[in-house]
Amino acid sequence: METVIVEITDNDKQREEKLKAAGRVIRQGGLVAFPTETVYGLGADALNPQASRRIYEAKGRPSDNPLIVHICDKKDLEKITKHVPERAKKLADKFWPGPLTMIFEKNDRVPLETTGGLETVAVRMPDHAAALGLIKAGGGFIAAPSANTSGKPSPTQAEHVVLDMDGRIPMILDGGSVGIGIESTIVDFSGDCPMILRPGCITKSMIQEVIGEVKMDEGLKDENPKKPPKAPGMKYRHYAPKAKMILVDGSQEKVQAKINSLAKEAVKSGRGVGIIGTDESCRNYPLGIVKSIGTRADEDTIARHLYGILREFDEQDVEIIYSESFPSHGIGQAIMNRMLKAAGHQIIKV
Ligand code: TXA
Ligand code: MG
Repeated sequence: METVIVEITDNDKQREEKLKAAGRVIRQGGLVAFPTETVYGLGADALNPQASRRIYEAKGRPSDNPLIVHICDKKDLEKITKHVPERAKKLADKFWPGPLTMIFEKNDRVPLETTGGLETVAVRMPDHAAALGLIKAGGGFIAAPSANTSGKPSPTQAEHVVLDMDGRIPMILDGGSVGIGIESTIVDFSGDCPMILRPGCITKSMIQEVIGEVKMDEGLKDENPKKPPKAPGMKYRHYAPKAKMILVDGSQEKVQAKINSLAKEAVKSGRGVGIIGTDESCRNYPLGIVKSIGTRADEDTIARHLYGILREFDEQDVEIIYSESFPSHGIGQAIMNRMLKAAGHQIIKV
């Protein structure tokens, strides 16, 4: 299959036409990869079971891992769910469009192919003009997981999508680099108490400020690396770089000393070493391939670059990656959740 790559910018004169053409692909049951504010998505008509099945094929994704349905109008939430609790409406009013996904009981319009066989459906309204335009043009309900091959880091640039999906899907909308860089926060409203199933840049305290009590899935806590998480997708070994990755945690000075001594050992034994530091620390690492993930002064930059850096290391002759770790409050919690997964929970405390 030939994959057409279509550039889409805000002040493009042909924007409407391009979105219409992409919407046509979706309406006919085809796949279109598209940018959102979090990561690139791989979209299909969420109400068409055959179209949803194509997503699983293209990604090589296990079919029990449900998809997120993306909408472009808050009112459409009621069209695919049985009941929307008041607290969920409040969160939608506060954070939609934005990086928040909420889970509800689904109604009969949503096929089980889209929800991985579950009676619940995850819904999100993305904060990205091209994404919203595509959803509208495609009929209003687009199922989309991240547009990576299953097991790879989520794509944060169209180039990442091309590497994973070229020849497998008919169209990729190229909207440049994404703004946030890690996937949306997921809150489950299908139980008695709202529960965070995946941390993201909308944090627990931001949610609590709007609706009061919200729980954190036990499977997400650092103390429970073995407990299976509630979101089926969180249990797979995701975001894993080809090289082995080890995080080092502690005071900046000790972390740098430890990484340098580990790097020295590895180099001595002839192994290719990668190091993930920050704008502040990179110059203190004399050995290995050293990359800055961003600045500690603005943790949003760290989220934005994380997946791209993991992909870059995949292209290089590196057997082991030593990485600094980050404070796990605010967006740092989502960053550390993804980094710990990439590292298979290997962390050295100094
Ligand atoms: O930011 C995002 O959410 C991106 C962009 C494209 O919107 N999408 C994304 O989709 O990250 P995906 O498929 O890579 O991750 C969706 C996660 C998976 O862990 C899946 O198991 C979980 O959401 N999920 C979806 N529906 C669910 C449901 N009904 N119950 C529990 N977990 C669900
Ligand atoms: Mg994903």
